[in-house]
Amino acid sequence: MQRHVVDRLLLPAIFGLTTVIAALILWQLLLGHRRTEIQAATKEQALFVRTKTESELKASILLLEQLAGRWQGRGQRNEADMQSDVALAMSGYPSYQAIEWVDPSYHVLWVTPQSRNKSERGSDLGADDSRRTALRAAQETRNVVVTHPVNMRDGGRGLLVCVPVYSQEKLDGFLVGAFQYQDLLASILQDVAPDYWLEIYDGPEEIYSRAGGTTQPRDKKWVQAVDIQFQQITWRAYAWPKPVTLAYTRSPLPQVAFVAGILLAGLLAFAVYMAETAQLRAKALVKANTNLEKEIAGREQAEDALRQAQKMEAVGRLAGGVAHDFNNLLMVIRGHAALSLRNVGVNGALRRELDEILQATDRASSFTRQLLAFSRKQVLQPRVLDLNALTTQVAGMLPPVLGDDIKLTIDLDPHLGHVKADAALLEQVIMNLVFNARDAMPDGGELSIRSFNAELSESSLANHPGAHAGPYATLAISDTGHGMSEETQSHIFEPFFTTKDRGKGTGLGLATVYGTINQSGGFISVSSKVGVGTAIKIFLPRVAEPVELTETPAVPVPTRKGDETILVVEDDDAVRRMTREFLKIGGYTVLEARSGAEAIQFVERREQPIDLVLTDVLMPGMKGRELVERLAKLRVGIKVLYMSAYTEDAAINIGVLSPGTAFIEKPFSPDDLANKVREVLSANGENISEKSFRRGI
Ligand SMILES: Nc1ncnc2c1ncn2[C@@H]1O[C@H](COP(=O)(O)OP(=O)(O)OP(=O)(O)O)[C@@H](O)[C@H]1O
Ligand SMILES: [Mg+2]
Repeated sequence: MQRHVVDRLLLPAIFGLTTVIAALILWQLLLGHRRTEIQAATKEQALFVRTKTESELKASILLLEQLAGRWQGRGQRNEADMQSDVALAMSGYPSYQAIEWVDPSYHVLWVTPQSRNKSERGSDLGADDSRRTALRAAQETRNVVVTHPVNMRDGGRGLLVCVPVYSQEKLDGFLVGAFQYQDLLASILQDVAPDYWLEIYDGPEEIYSRAGGTTQPRDKKWVQAVDIQFQQITWRAYAWPKPVTLAYTRSPLPQVAFVAGILLAGLLAFAVYMAETAQLRAKALVKANTNLEKEIAGREQAEDALRQAQKMEAVGRLAGGVAHDFNNLLMVIRGHAALSLRNVGVNGALRRELDEILQATDRASSFTRQLLAFSRKQVLQPRVLDLNALTTQVAGMLPPVLGDDIKLTIDLDPHLGHVKADAALLEQVIMNLVFNARDAMPDGGELSIRSFNAELSESSLANHPGAHAGPYATLAISDTGHGMSEETQSHIFEPFFTTKDRGKGTGLGLATVYGTINQSGGFISVSSKVGVGTAIKIFLPRVAEPVELTETPAVPVPTRKGDETILVVEDDDAVRRMTREFLKIGGYTVLEARSGAEAIQFVERREQPIDLVLTDVLMPGMKGRELVERLAKLRVGIKVLYMSAYTEDAAINIGVLSPGTAFIEKPFSPDDLANKVREVLSANGENISEKSFRRGI
């Protein structure tokens, strides 16, 4: 979730920030541009101030020089003429405060205009240092000399322009022009844009300020300075825009750009966020889609597996049904052949033919046994066992089976849990798998047998309908053989499916493996690749109980004539009759019952003891197990031997015999039966049937 939010916000944040930065840069650029513009305009104004002031001052000074030049040529000067010349000239230059005629001893002879400057007349300019210095300098240099600021007679500060007038090398006097700074510069600078502050300095002294001394403090950021030069004087002029000018020139563009930039950043970030969200949603959708597809594929696989299981179930039912009836027929054929064999001589054609019949029925019964195994209808005798020990025992028999070209590796998990299964059938399972692996590696290869514990969840078992989640012990048999195609893999558990040559394989190997493992509550998984190899794993549910020790193999009981009474309970007349014959040969007294109910009646009626009840497991009406329960109530100590080759799915418990339960598998030979009956009758201690009854068979 956290990651999801970060994913969504990262890109919009990058875009947004980039745009904000771009807006800031643009803003700064625009501000810089505006600053340069203002500075350039101010500079222009400052330069205009210089040019204007310099040219006006030059013009004013030139006026004096022209007058002086004109008078220099004249010998005798008439004061009145001179004054009228001056008055005439001054009329064009109103900035003049006064123009005076000063004699060589620095005394003012006359002043124009007289009205304003009466007191000036006759005054001694030499009394004032700066005036005297200027006049002397003008006299010595014979040039125009302009003073630094001097106090004006009628107040204020100003400057004097001293022009020496000579006639034939003799100093006649000085033409002195007086300007008041404020008046002079105000008139000169009246054309300079009014929206700028102006200040002019002569050295440290401010000689002009546009606002008449009440100027705002100079704005350092915007001020532009220029030097104004005329004669030997240099003034410094400063110009800077008034706030109103700044405000006027301040374009809203940078702000607009900035605000627009921020808005754009927000918009862009939002757009990217939406795009990102849409993309994430699309990704999530794709993921969900993929998951859905996977789920559908999984379901299809599970459905396939279910269909396959149903198909196997149907085939199994058919095979089981056929095998059951066929088995009874075989039993009768085999039994009678065996009985006939006893009655013919040692040699002769008849004996050979009977032998042939016996061999054929043995082969046929092997088939039916396998078919019953496949259809999960074989009678199991399970016990808790150590799969590792069993595997080690089987592995001991393998080298001659595998030959030299196949390398056998065994890797058994020492912590492997126990399983509950029929040891003999499990051995057959391992052998079948090993044979298949061997047959897949005609040119040699590697065969590995590995055991390990597995904890399986419901979801991992989707392809194994009927299997339950939980702890399993697993045996994996892998080879590096030719492997199988998908097509082959989908058929391998079907009975009679084989890819081997006629006569080489029956196609019943994996069918029995399938039946045995399924009947034991486990399942099988197959993985195979053509040209690479095959791994077949059998999974059996783990049990916590300790290993049950194998019953010591029954010591072959010497066949002796029996004199006990045996009650045979069997619904199939032919089988019953034949069993009776077998027992009679053995010397036993045989009682026959067609069903469980009939057997009970017998026992109730009969005074003499019945030593053994030999009963079929599955019969119409009362089943073998129920019969044994009822008999146990009637007569304590009665011994029981079950006979069967067949059990029903629905009555799987009936097919599973407790260890130690006496049982003989059909079809059996007279000797098999004689041995088994003797074994049960001779068994001491606890009655087997009681034991089996208590545990439930
Ligand atoms: N380890 C394996 N490698 C390659 N193919 C295999 C392997 N195990 C089984 N098969 C294929 O599965 C088919 C069926 O095997 P199954 O054991 O049921 O019968 P079979 O081996 O052909 O005959 P039978 O076991 O009765 O002698 C085999 O013919 C073979 O094509
Ligand atoms: Mg096989």
